[in-house]
Amino acid sequence: MTDELIRLENLQKAFGDTVVLDGVELSVNRGESLAVIGRSGSGKSVMLKHVLGLMMPTDGDVWCLGTHINTADLRELYHVRARVGYVFQFAALFDSLTVRENVGFFLDNHADKTPEEIDEIVEEKLTQVGLPGTGPLMPASLSGGMKKRAGLARALVGEPEIILYDEPTSGLDPITAAAVNDLINKTKEYTAATTVIITHDMHSAYKTAERIAMLHEGRIIFDGSNQEIRDCEDPRVQQFINGRAEGPIDPLKGSTKQRPQEANL
Ligand SMILES: Nc1ncnc2c1ncn2[C@@H]1O[C@H](COP(=O)(O)OP(=O)(O)OP(=O)(O)O)[C@@H](O)[C@H]1O
Ligand SMILES: [Mg+2]
Repeated sequence: MTDELIRLENLQKAFGDTVVLDGVELSVNRGESLAVIGRSGSGKSVMLKHVLGLMMPTDGDVWCLGTHINTADLRELYHVRARVGYVFQFAALFDSLTVRENVGFFLDNHADKTPEEIDEIVEEKLTQVGLPGTGPLMPASLSGGMKKRAGLARALVGEPEIILYDEPTSGLDPITAAAVNDLINKTKEYTAATTVIITHDMHSAYKTAERIAMLHEGRIIFDGSNQEIRDCEDPRVQQFINGRAEGPIDPLKGSTKQRPQEANL
């Protein structure tokens, strides 16, 4: 069995004339922790959604856990999704459901378990993320950091082999962000899951990943270790990781491309 759990090959995605992904090449092996960095709007979330078939490519190929996602039927997609935990960028909790119902949603609807067994699993996952006893609360009464934790608890109920985090620290104060980084690392230790973290927070990337890939103008322009990115001579990478306004990347220009207009004959 291959150790390559995710593979994106020449992945392209356009929305109308806006080319978001323009030939992404990326592979993730079992046990790795990878951070994908890139400017806001560079297509990080779009890329991640392709891994689970939540978006389909304009061109190119996507594999996840040995399944060719482009051609998978719904049943196959369901099997892949069941083995992957997805922590959404904005937690994506159902406002009208309690924390317990949100975290146990997948089990309530798909698993062959009694409500008591589900209660037990949910409480175990809530405890793991530092939210014991919060099951009866409504999402509206949680802080931003608590919502992110509840989102992680929900991703953990399926005992995932891969955990995908979309911007786990965005919008959090530095102390809460540090706690979330610690939680990601702790989760990696006790689940041994392969981890992909999408972020524009360099501090979080360094803290939680051993390998960093940078997405820029639709492609991966750097892929290497934490030390290699610090030593990378590409001025675009240096500008991003050091957060400088000056450099080859125009901070006022969008981070996706427009298709060249066809000549007016
Ligand atoms: N469903 C969609 N329809 C049309 N355009 C979309 C859709 N989803 C994303 N886009 C566009 O794709 C581009 C990349 O969006 P994406 O959300 O992947 O960025 P991102 O890198 O995750 O940014 P951020 O760091 O702000 O989360 C943006 O220009 C966005 O407007
Ligand atoms: Mg995003």
